[in-house]
Amino acid sequence: MQDIKEKIIVALDVDTLKEAERFVDLLISAGIKYFKVGSQLFTAYGPDAVRMVSKAGAKVFLDLKFHDIPNTVALASGSTASILSVTPSAETGNIAQDIRNLAIPAVFMMTVHIKGGRKMLEAAVKGAEDKARELKIKRPLVVGVTRLTSDEDKGNIQHEVTEAARLAKSSGLDGVVCSAHEVSMVRNEFGQEFIIVVPGIRPKGAQADDQSRVATAREAIDAGASYLVIGRPILKAPDPIKAFKELIS
Ligand code: C5P
Repeated sequence: MQDIKEKIIVALDVDTLKEAERFVDLLISAGIKYFKVGSQLFTAYGPDAVRMVSKAGAKVFLDLKFHDIPNTVALASGSTASILSVTPSAETGNIAQDIRNLAIPAVFMMTVHIKGGRKMLEAAVKGAEDKARELKIKRPLVVGVTRLTSDEDKGNIQHEVTEAARLAKSSGLDGVVCSAHEVSMVRNEFGQEFIIVVPGIRPKGAQADDQSRVATAREAIDAGASYLVIGRPILKAPDPIKAFKELIS
């Protein structure tokens, strides 16, 4: 069975690149392989934030939740695919080799809002694909946000998430973002290959903050989540490594 550690994406929701770097170094040493760069860090530092994580040897989930006209989203997805990085093994002193190593996509997964509709979703995948082909690299996975985990379930969320996931799948997306409460339903309908990203993870009894549809890491994994996105329970803990270990224990 895959280690839970390998499914955790730590959300770098912090103010400065320096702070983000500190968390990346600390958590990579604890076995974390993925970090989320979201609107807070990206608005302040742009692709430098993405490259920082990538250069440290981890993969980036760029969560900017695009929602715009199809042409704009296609171009933004292309820009996402084109953020390249140097791996730690590069800079060999051999220029030809280094240039080849430069062509490493820094973003392994990105988000769009499913509410943007079929044309926008198809444009997102095509935009990323076209740019990746041009650069001869792998395109980032494109996952769609169904309903935010901060939205309360007023009784029809399961239905709305299913409908959104159907639209995502038939538009060519690689997966969806939903809460742990809807994971087993999505997993059953869409199979093992479909990516399901789950935020709103909280240890038992912990405060939910602004999140609403929360669950523990174990519940989300058992329900079939591919990745868990965790921010405050780790970032705000007095001892982030201890908090991370407790979350996955
Ligand atoms: O701090 P917390 O663990 O609640 O952070 C959750 C992270 O997941 C945040 O960065 C948030 O932007 C992101 N996210 C979410 N709900 C979604 C999609 C992304 O909470 N539906």
